[in-house]
This record gives sequence, C-alpha cells and structure tokens, in this order.
Amino acid sequence: MVSFHCASAMSAFSCSLFVVASLFCGAYFISSGFFTKGYSEVSSSSINIGNLVVKFRDCQDGEVINMLQSSKSATCKVRCRPPGSEALPQGIIVKTSNLEMRPLWSDTVKPGNLGPSANLLAIAVGIKQKEIVDRIIKKFPARDFVVMLFHYDGVVDEWRDLEWSDQAIHLSAVNQTKWWFAKRFLHPDIVAEYKYIFLWDEDLGVDFEKLCTSLYLSIIEDEGLEISQPALDPVKSDVHHQITARKRNSRLHRRIYKFKGSGRCDSHSTAPPCIGWVEMMAPVFSRAAWRCAWYMIQNDLIHAWGLDMQLGYCAQGDRMKNVGVVDAQYIVHLGLPTLGGRRNFT
Ligand SMILES: *[C@@H]1O[C@H](CO)[C@@H](O)[C@H](O)[C@H]1NC(C)=O
Repeated sequence: MVSFHCASAMSAFSCSLFVVASLFCGAYFISSGFFTKGYSEVSSSSINIGNLVVKFRDCQDGEVINMLQSSKSATCKVRCRPPGSEALPQGIIVKTSNLEMRPLWSDTVKPGNLGPSANLLAIAVGIKQKEIVDRIIKKFPARDFVVMLFHYDGVVDEWRDLEWSDQAIHLSAVNQTKWWFAKRFLHPDIVAEYKYIFLWDEDLGVDFEKLCTSLYLSIIEDEGLEISQPALDPVKSDVHHQITARKRNSRLHRRIYKFKGSGRCDSHSTAPPCIGWVEMMAPVFSRAAWRCAWYMIQNDLIHAWGLDMQLGYCAQGDRMKNVGVVDAQYIVHLGLPTLGGRRNFT
C-alpha cells in the first residue's frame, strides 16, 4: 500500500510534483511486474492499480489526486484536482479567485488597478462609525488595497456619498460580527491573491497621521511577520493587554517584560500573551497565515474570544519570531460600543 500525503500548505503544483516524484519510486514496482494494466477507482479516496491500492488523503483543500495510468509505458500523469472538476479538460480549471471588480463592457481585457502584491482590508462597520471608518479607509490607498465592508447594521446606501464607496465591496448581514463575515466571505481560495489581509474593527483611530500603511507593509515584510498588529497608543487607547501597547523608539516588539501581577512575563517566557501574541481587533495576516487561521474560525464563532491564544498554530513556524506588534506604525483603540468589535458584549 502506498500513501500519498499532500500537506495542506502545498500548492496544487508542488503537490502534483510531489506525487510525480513519488511515482518515480513507484516505477520500481511497475518494472517488477507489480502493476497490471489499467486501474479502477474504488472510491474518491483510493484507486486500485492491479494489486496496488493507492490511497489518497488530505490533499490540499479536499482535492482528490487523479492518477491517469498509461498501460503502455511506465510514465504516468498525476494531478491534484478539486473534487468535481475531474471531468474538465486540463487547463480550464481556475481554482482561486479575487475580489477585483471588472468593467461591464470592455473590448480589451484591461489589467486591474492592483499590482501583484495587492492586499485586502476587511472591516466590520455600522453607520454610526461612518466618520471614523472614512478616516481609516483613507489610510489604505486604492493602489495597494481592496476594501471590503461588512455592514452589520444593514445600512449600505448611506455610505454611497463617500468617494471610495463605489470601489469598495459592501456586504450586509444584520447583527453579524466580522468573524461571521470572514468565515463566509474570505475563504482562502477567494483571497488567495492578496499578500496581507487586514481584518479590522471599526473603532480604531488613525486620524493623527501616525499610520502609514505602506510603511507598515514594508516593516512586516522585512521582519517576516506572518501575524501582526499595529501597536496601540497607550495614552489614548483602551489597552487591554500590555503586549499591544506601543513602545517608544521601537520598530516593533515581539515580547513584553512584566513583573507585576499574576501574568509575569520575562525573557524566559515562551507563551502568549507574553510573546508572540496579537489582539483580535486589528490583526494583519499573511496569505499563508490566513489560509491557516480561516480553518480555525468555527462557524458559530462570534466574538473570537480564545482564538487569539490559538493563532500561534498559524505563525508558519516559530510564533516567537513570526508574530509581532509594530510600534513604528500605531493606532488608537477607541473602545467604542460596536457590534463589529467586542466591546458591545463585555
Ligand atoms: C440586532 O441587534 C439589535 C441590538 O441587539 C436588536 O435590537 C435588533 O432587533 C437585532 N436585529 C435583528 C434583525 O436581529
């Protein structure tokens, strides 16, 4: 019995390479007469080739590996394909999508506004926070960001007068939190083209010219932060966890030192929230970290309590290195009672 295991982080391409490589080893069996002609599919998870049962499991995102065995030669073609697409000709399959809007009538296919390193800002909003949200979004230049608004109060039309409104994607579902929206509308295959995903609450102050999103992006890229957040101005913010407070004269920090109280943090600490931790009001995920985190969002998750402590699983390696709080670019957490955020419920 041979098992192929396509680890979840592999792309379909590397997945298929992996299986092809495995089959080169398999050629040994073929030449020794282990195979007989043809194969029969036993189920979506295993294929019989002569006496050999090839079992498939955990192919990326439920993909099934299709094996096309040529009976004449020992060469074979193996591909990872999304379930349901097996009957389609090669090359016609588009596995992922994006949120880019397309012109209705256009003779030529125009490239979109966004470059290959486009990012996504998704933010849960209510009309009461219109002014704050307007200020936040103006910090996210359209050339670098696609903007998606989750309207939890059902009010969409009253945003139309803002100049960026027609370029933004508006989703409306009454009384749902940003985690509900994110699970349903930010599937990793839909947002696969975005380098970083900002999943923010609306009660964030950015009005004092202290946040430059392009500098923020260059810092997290440079420092290899897979999960990050901008630090909170400790004077003006509603700070709940000391690790999120801005440190002066610092580019970013990954750990805190705290000797008072119950939650002691020192240079030996290896666990969140002393090190490698961000709060859920303004997280920024790399593409890979989001692909991981999306799976952790339970369908009944509302406030994301507890999710923050689990995010280290998605750090793409060492959470003590890959998770951090950016001090050089910081925001104010206003702590307003909003539905998108969590204050409403505490
Ligand atoms: C949404 O929540 C508000 C506040 O709790 C409530 O008054 C309203 O009835 C809810 N609306 C729906 C459609 O559930």
